[in-house]
Amino acid sequence: MTTPLTPPAAPSPHDSAFLRACRREPVPHTPVWFMRQAGRALPEYRALREGTGMLESCFRPDLVTEITLQPVRRFGVDAAILFSDIVVPLKAVGVDLDIVPGVGPVVAEPFRTAADLDRLPPLEGAPEITAAVQSLVGELGATPLIGFAGAPFTLASYLVEGGPSKDQRRTKALMYGDPQLWAQLMDRLATITLAFLRVQIDAGASAIQLFDSWVGALPAEDYRTYVQPHSARILAGVSDVPRIHFGVGTGELLHDMGAAGADVVGVDFRVALDDAVRRIGPGKAVQGNLDPTVVFAPTEVVRAMTERVLEQGKAAEGHVFNLGHGVLPETDPDVLTRIVAHVHEATAA
Ligand code: CP3
Repeated sequence: MTTPLTPPAAPSPHDSAFLRACRREPVPHTPVWFMRQAGRALPEYRALREGTGMLESCFRPDLVTEITLQPVRRFGVDAAILFSDIVVPLKAVGVDLDIVPGVGPVVAEPFRTAADLDRLPPLEGAPEITAAVQSLVGELGATPLIGFAGAPFTLASYLVEGGPSKDQRRTKALMYGDPQLWAQLMDRLATITLAFLRVQIDAGASAIQLFDSWVGALPAEDYRTYVQPHSARILAGVSDVPRIHFGVGTGELLHDMGAAGADVVGVDFRVALDDAVRRIGPGKAVQGNLDPTVVFAPTEVVRAMTERVLEQGKAAEGHVFNLGHGVLPETDPDVLTRIVAHVHEATAA
């Protein structure tokens, strides 16, 4: 009897430690990746970006592919995250904005009135992003690619303030002062964000992270009224892959952010993971939460703090090791390499 010839199966991320942890399944080791792992902490990134603007780079599939792969090669992390930015879909629908080095996104004409809604049409595809994701999925093989987008509150904050803001005062003035316009703005942004995530998933991303970086500015009651329904609509539209939801200073919102439809709740460094697990409740994995400034401390301290995160993470049904916010540009990349090795060794089954 002859066995029919079947082509060897392409390497798939499906059984990777990262996706298993997101699904709360047993893992061969605790998976680890770093928010902002691609970027200025890497000399090879600075060399490649030389002379090309940040936003321009995000629309160049060759650069996106190479910059996304750099930290995977160097650190041995368990997942790649697409090199992009939360304002890329806004740029793609025609909003006049730029990313200013050392500042962040700056919007030429801030959003304040109902007439501004016309500047936020739906996103009809993003061919450069599709091309970049497809090329990456081929290169990455069994390593999962995380797609991402900014959540409506954080995007609204940049649009309304015109740039980064410490107190979100114009954003909150609009939200509390004109709830109807606020809901329309959030609805437009949710439609764009959902389409941007779908582009990435349809091109092969195997998980997504929805960043609501600045939503920690709100009390839980107002989060539930003004934000959660819009983030929930996005997360419901991408339920075919694991969904990570993260924000900074969101200790009081962790339960509600999980309830918005996340499979994995990202925790910043202010709340211990075992406490976060109690706040979030059952049925969710957690991601986090080594303080990104700890990398500047002596090696023994980095090791001890890493151990503490792993220990506290044992309380979770699934734990994806990460920092409590993004890699700081001054970080020594070798420290990150050592953290990855430490997490893998300490948790090997
Ligand atoms: O995690 C990764 O490696 C993927 C890349 C990524 C970038 N931005 C690249 C980037 C991701 C996930 C983001 C998301 C992002 N962008 C967020 C949410 C995450 C968070 O930090 O809370 C926010 C709030 C932004 C907006 C933004 N873009 C800021 C605040 C900045 C920094 C401005 C500065 O120069 O200090 C950017 C620019 C940016 N986005 C850089 C990178 C690598 C630096 C640009 C450069 O290299 O010159």
